[in-house]
Parts: sequence; structure tokens; C-alpha cells
Amino acid sequence: MNKADLIVGIQWGDEGKGKIVDLMAQNYDVVCRYQGGHNAGHTIVVRGKTLALHLIPSGVLNKDAINIIGNGVVISPKALIEEMKQFGDLHGRLFVSDKAHMILKYHILIDQARERLRGDKAIGTTGRGIGPTYGNKIERIGHRMGELRDTEKLAKNLIEYFEINHTVFEALEITTQNYDELKAELDSYAKILLPYIADTTALVWKSLDEQKRVLLEGAQGTLLDIDHGTYPFVTSSSTISAGACIGLGLSPKDIGNVTGIVKAYCTRVGNGPFPTEDFGDEGKKLRSNGHEFGTTTGRPRRCGWFDAVACRYASRINGCDQLSLMKLDVLDGFEKVKVCVAYEIDGKRVDTLPQSLENITPIYEEFAGWNGSKGVKKYEDLPKNAKDYVKKIEELTNTKVGLISTGPDREETIIL
Ligand code: GDP
Ligand code: IMO
Ligand code: MG
Repeated sequence: MNKADLIVGIQWGDEGKGKIVDLMAQNYDVVCRYQGGHNAGHTIVVRGKTLALHLIPSGVLNKDAINIIGNGVVISPKALIEEMKQFGDLHGRLFVSDKAHMILKYHILIDQARERLRGDKAIGTTGRGIGPTYGNKIERIGHRMGELRDTEKLAKNLIEYFEINHTVFEALEITTQNYDELKAELDSYAKILLPYIADTTALVWKSLDEQKRVLLEGAQGTLLDIDHGTYPFVTSSSTISAGACIGLGLSPKDIGNVTGIVKAYCTRVGNGPFPTEDFGDEGKKLRSNGHEFGTTTGRPRRCGWFDAVACRYASRINGCDQLSLMKLDVLDGFEKVKVCVAYEIDGKRVDTLPQSLENITPIYEEFAGWNGSKGVKKYEDLPKNAKDYVKKIEELTNTKVGLISTGPDREETIIL
């Protein structure tokens, strides 16, 4: 039986997962998303043409591959339908788990209202209803895609829920939908989506049994993981590799090679601690060189230096066999490049990730910069200082670098 290979974000998301999944998907038969929702924004660039995906797996450009949205994903039927429109007929190429929880209008309104009320304590969510939907799932009051098979029952259950919880909705100044509105909306989703809704766990098992090559695509990143990230400034799902087992119905034994996707520096969107954030000119330069603006919300991303402590932790927790080092070209033109090799906390040197990343002073090592890594496709052609930087990252993270990305295009990649 085959094992499923896995792609996972190492930092705070937006590492370039979409690019690598698209590239690797050319050699896979099945590509699966296992958690997150349309808070994700995965960019693919092929011969100068850019595509941003939120829910549909980044294997969609391989016409021979099947794409699966697993039970661990939270799905806005509206967003999914919108995204599907750009691909023509996806019948037989896209399958959506009947067990995946549905994001409905009220989840989005709750997410946005709560963020408003939190004021300066806001998490900085994408406002896509992610937290309230996963919250409902854990509270055992959520609704799953398979329920679109009986929209009358689903609409009745939702109206009952709105009635029981009317004081909560009133407090958040949310007007809930009435039965007729809701039923019409659910019917419109059912009409389009029912042909795609399936038992995706059985489908993945069958694919592996039949020796098909299966690739699992993570969303967000390790430091946004609900358990292992910078809580509470995290997303609401298990973003680490272990999340793939739960989010698809696989056993740990089904997982094969794990590739951690990591930028050659660090970014973060939304609030929360970020030890190596650079508030000065170098941070600004990283943002402008790297076009660091959110794929989903357009927000400017906070930028800073590579954090080897966090990457070492992420590599271990995900079981990374290799790293794919992204956006090396963005460091072109810096005189010096910094790497955080340890933290200083209360005057002590710490080289493991503490429970809280607040009040940390990063300890940096500086490296000589370089020019001319942009678009390089062969390792030999990289500037010497860039090669030394890659070696240093391997050393500091105890993980080999198997791919280096030198530009957004599929072609701008070094495979080692
Ligand atoms: P994801 O969420 O992990 O898939 O990453 P995003 O797509 O949100 O953000 C990564 C951004 O960097 C996208 O705009 C990519 O096109 C771009 N990108 C990916 N790899 C590289 C690279 O090696 N160099 C440069 N300059 N841009 C890259
Ligand atoms: P991809 O898959 C970067 C961040 C949000 C916020 C926090 C919680 O493109 O890497 P949420 O809406 O999930 O409740 O927001 O998580 N966040 C991401 N940051 N990339 C993402 O996805 C993200 N998905 C969520 O900015 O800080
Ligand atoms: Mg993204």
C-alpha cells in the first residue's frame, strides 16, 4: 500500500505552500486539503499567470489529478461555489467530504462581531467564520456538508438553534435569517454541490490501496496551530502534519514523506507575538521585495528574520524529512542577512520554543548578503553566500533542504 506525502507550513502561513503543491502535483494522482478553510490563500504562478486558491486543492492544474477536500476542512459552500466557477467542469475531479463542517452566514457575522468587540485584543482573523465554525464542531452543534442532502431538516434545525440562542445573536447585533431565506440559500448550495459530496475517507483509502500517489496539502502554518502555535493568536485547526490524519481519516502509518515549507525569512498576518519582527527599514524592504500582502485579505504582512528556534521546533513536530526553502530571492540585495539562533528570556539563553513567545529578545547571527539568486534553477548557479546561508539553515534546524525557491513561478525552483 502506498503512503501519502505531505506538505506543511512551518511558520505563520503564506510560506509558499501553493507553489510547491502545484509543482509536486504534476507527479501525483490525488491532492487533498485536510484542515482550515477559505482563510487560506495559496498562490500558483505558471508562466507568468497567477491563480489564488482558497479551498480547492492546489493540484487542480494537473488535469489528471483528483482533488479532495477532507472532513477536517471547514467549508463555506458559497465560497466553494464561487471558486469552482473558474475551472469549468470539475465532476469526477473534485470530491468534498460529507463530514466537513459548513461555514454559514452566521458564523462569519459572529467572527466579525467578536473581533470588533475584542478591540485592541483582536486576533486579527481573516473574518471568514473559521473560529465559530470549528467552535460549533467541538461543541457538537455544527452542521456537516452531508446535511445538504435534506435541506428542510437542516433549515429547521438551524432556525431552532437561532431561537434558542437569540440573546447571543442580539448581543452581537446579528440579525439571523428566517426559514424561507435559509431554505432557499441551502437549496441553491445543494443543487450545485451534492454531486461532489462523498465519503472522501473511503476514496483516499482506495487510492492508497490502488498504489495511487497521494499528496496532502496543509493550510496555515505550524505557529498558527490551535495546540502548538502562539495561542490565542492562532487559527482554530490542527495545522501540523498530525492534523492530516484527523482531517482525512488516515492513520499515522499512512503518512510518507513530509516536506516543511519555510520562507528564508519570516512573515505574519494578524496579531500576536513575532520575536524576529523587524519594524525598521529592513522589515520594509522584505515586505516590498517579497510583495508581502495577504492573498486572502490584502493586509500588509509583518516581516522579519528567519527564526531557527521556531523552525527547528516546527520541523520536529511535523516530522519533516526535508524543508523547501522559499523566497530566497527576496534576500537579494541585503548587505547582511540575520538569523535568530536562540532566544534571550529573562537574561537566559533559550534554544527551545517556550509556551509564550511574548517578551523574547532574539539572539542573531549575521551572514554576508548576496545578489543574483532570483530565478536561479541550478544549485551550482547560486551565489556562494546564498549557498552558505542554506547550509546554515540545514545545520540550525537539523533538517535537510530539498528544494529552494527563487521566484514565484513554478519554473523558478531548485530541486536538490
Ligand atoms: P501559501 O499560503 O503558503 O500558499 O503562500 P501564499 O501564496 O499566500 O504566499 C506566498 C507568496 O509568495 C505568493 O505570492 C507566491 O506567488 C510568492 N512566492 C512563492 N515562492 C516564491 C519565491 O521563491 N520567490 C518569490 N519572490 N515569491 C514567491
Ligand atoms: P495560508 O494557508 C497566514 C491567520 C490570520 C489570523 C489567525 C486567525 O494562506 O498560509 P482565522 O481567520 O483563521 O481565524 O485567523 O490566523 N491566518 C493566516 N495567516 N496564512 C494563512 O493561510 C492564514 N489563515 C489564517 O491572519 O492571524
Ligand atoms: Mg497564503
